[in-house]
Amino acid sequence: MSASTPLPRTEDTGNRSGVTTPLDRRKEWSGLAEHRDRFGSTHLRDLFADDPARADRYTLGVGGLHVDYSKNLVTDETLRLLNDLAAATGVASLRDAMLRGDHINLTENRAVLHTALRAPHGEVVRADGHDVVPEVHRVLERMGAFAERVRSRAWLGHTGKAVTRVVNIGIGGSDLGPAMAYEALRPYTDRGLEFRFVSNVDGTDLNEALVDADPERTLFVVASKTFTTVETITNASAARDWLLAGLGAGSDAVAEHFVAVSTNAEKVVEFGIDTANMFEFWDWVGGRYSYDSAIGLSLMVALGPERFREMLAGFHLMDTHFATAPPERNLPFLLGLLGVWYGGFFDAQSHAVLPYSHHMSKFPAYLQQLDMESNGKSVQRDGRPVNWQTGPVVWGTPGTNGQHAYFQLLHQGTRFVPADLIGFANPAPDLDPGLVPQHDLLMANLFAQGQALAFGRTSAEVAAEGVPADLVPHRTFPGNRPTTTVLAERLDPSVLGQLVALYEHKVFVQGAVWNINSFDQWGVQLGKVLAKRLEPALTEGAEVPGLDPSTGGLVRRYRTLRGR
Ligand code: F6P
Repeated sequence: MSASTPLPRTEDTGNRSGVTTPLDRRKEWSGLAEHRDRFGSTHLRDLFADDPARADRYTLGVGGLHVDYSKNLVTDETLRLLNDLAAATGVASLRDAMLRGDHINLTENRAVLHTALRAPHGEVVRADGHDVVPEVHRVLERMGAFAERVRSRAWLGHTGKAVTRVVNIGIGGSDLGPAMAYEALRPYTDRGLEFRFVSNVDGTDLNEALVDADPERTLFVVASKTFTTVETITNASAARDWLLAGLGAGSDAVAEHFVAVSTNAEKVVEFGIDTANMFEFWDWVGGRYSYDSAIGLSLMVALGPERFREMLAGFHLMDTHFATAPPERNLPFLLGLLGVWYGGFFDAQSHAVLPYSHHMSKFPAYLQQLDMESNGKSVQRDGRPVNWQTGPVVWGTPGTNGQHAYFQLLHQGTRFVPADLIGFANPAPDLDPGLVPQHDLLMANLFAQGQALAFGRTSAEVAAEGVPADLVPHRTFPGNRPTTTVLAERLDPSVLGQLVALYEHKVFVQGAVWNINSFDQWGVQLGKVLAKRLEPALTEGAEVPGLDPSTGGLVRRYRTLRGR
C-alpha cells in the first residue's frame, strides 16, 4: 500500500465512530480509575474471606480448558466496569467485523481471517466477497497427501532414499508456531522422523541442524509468507548449497529435497522451487497467526493429517466460543480485560506465562511474538498517539525451572507481575510409567505457587513459626500477586488449538480496547533497513553516509577484530 493510499474509513471496519473518543477520556475509563482508588490495597485474602464462593463463581470451563481467575484483583464491580469498557470501545463489533472479513488491518488494507483457517467444511467465510473455506481445505488436502508420503517413507530424495529428517527454515511466525507446537505435541509425533527448526541468520543455527544430517535423507521446508525475508532466504540458499554439494548433484535435485510454504509463488519459482511443491496461504493470514495454515506443514508431517485436524478443531471450538459467548462469560474477553485492568490501573509492565509442562517450553516465546508484535503499538488506529499503556512484555519459562530462577522476584520483589499458570491434569501419554508419579509433584508446585503468590505469609504467621524477629521481614511474603490458572485435562492437539486461539483472541480484545491495530508490524522494518545498509560497511568497509559516532565506532572495532 503506498503512503498516499487513504486509510479505509473506520465505519467500514466495524469501529463505528470515525474519530473515536480517546480511551482515557471515556467515562468507563474514569469509572475504572475511581474504582481502582477505592480498591486500594484490598488483599486477595480479604476477597476470599468475604466471598468463599469466589473460586466457583470466578471459574469458566470452555472445551477442555478449566480457567480459574478467582486469584485476580477483581470484584463483581471490577468485572462489570471492565465489560462496560469493552462495550463502549466496540470490542464485539470489531470482532464481528474481523470474522466477516472486513479490512480491519487498516494500515495494510487487509482482512484478518485466521479463523477461516480452521473453519470446517461447508462453513462460509468471505474475503473480499469470495468464500475462502474451499481453498483452505484444498490446501489442507494437499498438505495431507504430502505429509502421508513423507510419513510412509514414500517421499524419496534424489538418490532414491527415503527422507528421514525435515528441516523447517523460517523465522517469526513462520517458525515459532510450528516449532512450539512440535515440542508441545511430541508424544503425538512420528518419533522415527527427525525435525529441526532453523530461524536465526546466525549460521550456527543451520549448522547445528545439518551437522549430523545426511543430505540424501534431508528435506527442507522453506516457510515464508513473503519469501523475501532475508534470514530465511539466506538460510535456504545455504541449505541448497549444502545439499547440492553433499549429493554432488545439479539443481534438478532441489525438487526432491525442497518444498515451499508461501503466499508468493513468483519468489518461490525464482528461488528454484517448483510450484508443484509449494503450499500456499493468503494475505489475510498474518504471520503470527499462521501456524494453522500451510505454515504448519512440518508440524503436519510430524503429527499426521488427522492429529493436525484435531488441532484445527480445537482452534475452531475456541473461535466459536469467542464469537458467541456473552462478554461476561467469554474467556478471551475476560483474560483480555484483566490485562487492560492491570496495565491501565496497576502499572503492570509485564505478564508472565508459566506453563507447568516441559513440552510447553516454547509457548512463552510463541506468545511473545503473538502478543508483542500485535500490541506493541503506541498510535491509535487513526494515527493519533495513545496516552495509555498498551501491550505488556510477555515472558516466562516452564515450571518448575522458573521457581529456582526468578520466582524470588515474583514473590518478594517490588514489581507487579500478573501471571498465567498453565497445567495439564494428565501426564504425557508416552511418559515412562516410572516417571508418572512425578506428575503429581509437578502439579502440586503449580497449585502451590498460585496459592503462595495470592495469599503469601504474614509477618505474624512467620513470627509464630519461631523465626527470629530480625529475620521476620525477610521471610514474610506479601502475597496479593494475581494469577490465572488454566487447567486442562491433557496436552493434546485439540487442547493446544484451544489454548492458542484463546491467546489470539485475548490479544485481539486488548488491541480493540486500546484502539490500536493489532495486525500490522511496522516496528520491525527500521532495523531491517539499517542492517541492509550496514552490511557492506562490515564486509567491505563501505562508507555509510550519516552514520552516528557510536555505531561507526562499533563497526570499525568489529572490522579490526575480524582482521579487516
Ligand atoms: O518480524 C516481522 C515478520 O514480518 C513477522 O511478522 C513474520 O512472522 C516474520 O517476519 C517472517 O515473515 P515471512 O513469513 O514473510 O518470512
